[in-house]
Amino acid sequence: KTRIVEVGNDAGNPEYYEEAAEILQRGGTVSFPTETVYGLGADATNAEAVERIYLAKGRPSDNPLIVHVDSKEMALRYAANVPEKAIRCMDAFWPGPLTLILEAKEGVFADNVTAGLPTVGLRMPDHPIALNLLKQTDRPLAAPSANVSGKPSPTCAGHVEHDLNGKIDLILDGGATALGIESTVLDMTAEPPAILRPGSITADMIEDVIGQLRVSCEGKRTVPRSPGVKYTHYAPDAPVYLIEQKGDIVDRAIEHLHSKGKKVAVLSADFSKAADYYFPLSADVLYSGLRKCDETSADLILAAIQPEHKKDAALMNRLEKAADHKWFS
Ligand code: TXA
Ligand code: MG
Repeated sequence: KTRIVEVGNDAGNPEYYEEAAEILQRGGTVSFPTETVYGLGADATNAEAVERIYLAKGRPSDNPLIVHVDSKEMALRYAANVPEKAIRCMDAFWPGPLTLILEAKEGVFADNVTAGLPTVGLRMPDHPIALNLLKQTDRPLAAPSANVSGKPSPTCAGHVEHDLNGKIDLILDGGATALGIESTVLDMTAEPPAILRPGSITADMIEDVIGQLRVSCEGKRTVPRSPGVKYTHYAPDAPVYLIEQKGDIVDRAIEHLHSKGKKVAVLSADFSKAADYYFPLSADVLYSGLRKCDETSADLILAAIQPEHKKDAALMNRLEKAADHKWFS
């Protein structure tokens, strides 16, 4: 059984991290909260430790991991030829939900962290538990989201326990995460730099700091060529369909599904009386909502999309993945 250590409001107290740091230093795995989602951490310089992450998650080993650092200085020790624009991003957005893909310094990271790539994704999380753990462990921590591969990312310790109990050594419980969606991934080895995964740090915010970003063929400022993009993600057990929330479209869809004997869960910013199960829809509660759908007997999940949602690239990206791009019709 995985041990759970509850971290109180005095997150600066080093006692909370003694056991966790020891586990990490001898090659074990510890889940910890960040401002985005819970990560599953291991020493990024120890290949056997990193292997335990892939094993626990059931993650394909050609999908590289994000490495967490406690400062800009630590990042600069582990990256090579860091472009000036990357430094400006660190100064503007760290600590925070922005992962920078940089040239990896040779010979420091275990090969399985970068999945054999010459680059590494580095981020300094904006969470006292993550930062205190990094300081006390005194090494870079590889940490993907602490979910079973393909399931929604965990936004509280209970989600981690549900997915990984018995498969990892320890969970630091710091309550629910604030943002609920993974960091923006920005490739600084491209010129102009490219957003590989949208997150809370938006394209506009980044362009204000470093100028124009790469635009995809379809005119979008997300250029999804992260190695992990080809895998399905964030999917609950029942199929998810996106549906335009306009007039009575959602209610009519539910009526139609009921006539076929189907139970329907609805994720929407507006309460749905007609649905069998209702969960609110916004970025911070998306993953917990999808997980709650798994605990219902719903045959199908409708995610009701409003015009406001379409302006949120990160939220739409996760919803489209959860739905495998299916729209209800
Ligand atoms: O918010 C987050 O970023 C969370 C918390 C725990 O920090 N972490 C997270 O890690 O989401 P993970 O491993 O689930 O997602 C890593 C993403 C994947 O899309 C991966 O393909 C991409 O970053 N990535 C990592 N290293 C890369 C590299 N060298 N080149 C391109 N993409 C990379
Ligand atoms: Mg993940």
